[in-house]
Amino acid sequence: MADTRFKLNTGAEIPALGLGTWQSAPGEVKKAVSYALSIGYRHIDAAYCYANEDEVGEGLKEAFKSGIKREDVFVTTKLWCTYHSRVEQALDTSLKSLGLDYVDLYLVHWPIAMNPNGKSCSYLFPKLPDGSRDLVREHSHIQTWKSMEKLLATGKVKAIGVANYSVRYLEELLPQATVVPAVNQIENHPSLPQQEIVDFCKSKGIHITAYSPLGSTGSPMFKAEPVVEVAKRRNVTPASVLLSYHIARGSSVLAKSVTPERIKANMDLIILDKSDMKVLTDYSKDLEKSGKLVRYVYPEFGVDFGFPDKS
Ligand SMILES: NC(=O)c1ccc[n+]([C@@H]2O[C@H](COP(=O)([O-])OP(=O)(O)OC[C@H]3O[C@@H](n4cnc5c(N)ncnc54)[C@H](OP(=O)(O)O)[C@@H]3O)[C@@H](O)[C@H]2O)c1
Repeated sequence: MADTRFKLNTGAEIPALGLGTWQSAPGEVKKAVSYALSIGYRHIDAAYCYANEDEVGEGLKEAFKSGIKREDVFVTTKLWCTYHSRVEQALDTSLKSLGLDYVDLYLVHWPIAMNPNGKSCSYLFPKLPDGSRDLVREHSHIQTWKSMEKLLATGKVKAIGVANYSVRYLEELLPQATVVPAVNQIENHPSLPQQEIVDFCKSKGIHITAYSPLGSTGSPMFKAEPVVEVAKRRNVTPASVLLSYHIARGSSVLAKSVTPERIKANMDLIILDKSDMKVLTDYSKDLEKSGKLVRYVYPEFGVDFGFPDKS
């Protein structure tokens, strides 16, 4: 199951399971990447914003040295918000850090530009003196996408896509796009099913990649009763259920871990049947009805991104 692949609208295949690298600390992520690749992972998810692309690159280099071929590994990285007006420069910076000539997928990380020269508490998250995010509201995400499209001719990206795009943002983008995004990477788990976005993307040929499938750091989802029920019934771990949920929905999934046993265990994906999925889907519907959907990842941009939970 872990070697399942999905076809993108470019014709390329994306491995169903990818290793996440957000919050993977220095000193840990190189080992995590090379270990994951050594045991069969073929999909690594990175981002400029994670401030560890150089170590991810070291992990990749080690794997390539061991005989794994570059063309057999699907590498994603992402355009950070302070680079929306300098897209190719951002890509070049990421490629240099990763030690690669190309990435398999380059994503717009969030559909909002932040001031590249912002006076800030952090170069990644510039703030205005009043503490709010230093956004460049007049730079539209459509302009950014036009720059992303130009990257395809450079050979430095095999596919382009988006992340954190709601239906509303996609409806703005698609009529203006020459290239339909190959992927929309979104937070997704039974506590945030995002069915509307999943269905919309499917109808447009945009593949969904689920992030924070385990509920990110310190997740309570491993103990959620319906998840435990399916895990017991199928004699697997709650993590296996949470990851397999996406494969059953036709999405790829990113699981982050720097712990070798967990990296390995997360490859134990199973085919959830209709009754398993019903338990999880009913759980989602109950949360939706009671207004208790959970979003674990939400940087405070001060922008309404049009997600179903209105956050
Ligand atoms: N596009 C975006 O805006 C965006 C946003 C967020 C995430 N992402 C991507 O998606 C990836 C995954 O999301 P995430 O990092 O938020 O969270 P996640 O994968 O849902 O959860 C990671 C957490 O779960 C722990 N864990 C992993 N496997 C486990 C297991 N089998 N049993 C128990 N605990 C386990 C990890 O701990 P240890 O590492 O200590 O083992 C870590 O604390 C990210 O790393 C990133 O690549 C993208």
